[in-house]
Amino acid sequence: MTETSAVPPEPSEAALRNGSRGGRPISRKSLLRAAVAAGAVPLVAGGGVALARDTGAGNAPLALTPACDDGDDPTPPQMEGPYFKPNSPLRTSLVTSSTPGVPLTVSGYVFGRACRPVPGVLLDFWQADTNGAYDMAGFAFRGHQFTGADGSFKLTTIVPGLYPGRTRHIHVKAQAPGRPVLTTQLYFPGEPRNATDALYDPALLMNVRSAGQGREGSFDFVLDVAQQPGPTDPPTDPPTTPPSGTWAAGTTYRAGDRVTYNGGSYRCLQGHTAVPGWEPPLVPALWERG
Ligand SMILES: [Fe+2]
Repeated sequence: MTETSAVPPEPSEAALRNGSRGGRPISRKSLLRAAVAAGAVPLVAGGGVALARDTGAGNAPLALTPACDDGDDPTPPQMEGPYFKPNSPLRTSLVTSSTPGVPLTVSGYVFGRACRPVPGVLLDFWQADTNGAYDMAGFAFRGHQFTGADGSFKLTTIVPGLYPGRTRHIHVKAQAPGRPVLTTQLYFPGEPRNATDALYDPALLMNVRSAGQGREGSFDFVLDVAQQPGPTDPPTDPPTTPPSGTWAAGTTYRAGDRVTYNGGSYRCLQGHTAVPGWEPPLVPALWERG
């Protein structure tokens, strides 16, 4: 916003900025809702956003996949383990029509800290086969892909088998362009071994449901990628006070808000946080009578 020269006493630039959208904390939940409403993100996780991914096999209710939501931390890291191999093939499917195992798809989005999708993220998956064995000689059940322009990904594979000492899981490395690699693991709900695997983290639980003869899993990553809200993002958080009422110092007003002061009514001309000395009659740059 532009600075005004008609504000007595000396206006605080920070206070002015705090009254603008650019300086206010943006609700990531609200951004997501707005994105969904706009059709920009067709499928997002929990936090009150309706999904077709919230029931698991047997239709038992599941904990929601970690959502890109207010207060959420980035997806937590986990150990790489002994079975990673570099140079996996570029492919979204790790199977053929004859691959033994229960078919599984894992889909979702990669978000940054502002809950905006991150395109071009490298996702490198590796997992055990249906018998719980890793292919160390070749590249079976290994593959990397990149998120699309909308931050989405989809992996086609099978449900990995169990091997001694671990619960069921899929390994993944995620790297946004120019950012550090996140190494972590994804888990399955309803697995008895989840209760005894010391590595298991419910924050890394996928939503999984039955789909025909197979399973459909989903998971949304949140990477520690700084993001600025885009120019098309709608306003999100409501004002801390209703847009009408009695003018009060400390209140954040936005253009168009209406207040009363000493019996007069005023309309806010530009967003700002009110401070003593900026009473509406004193600052025509901020308030107009009417
Ligand atoms: Fe493993």
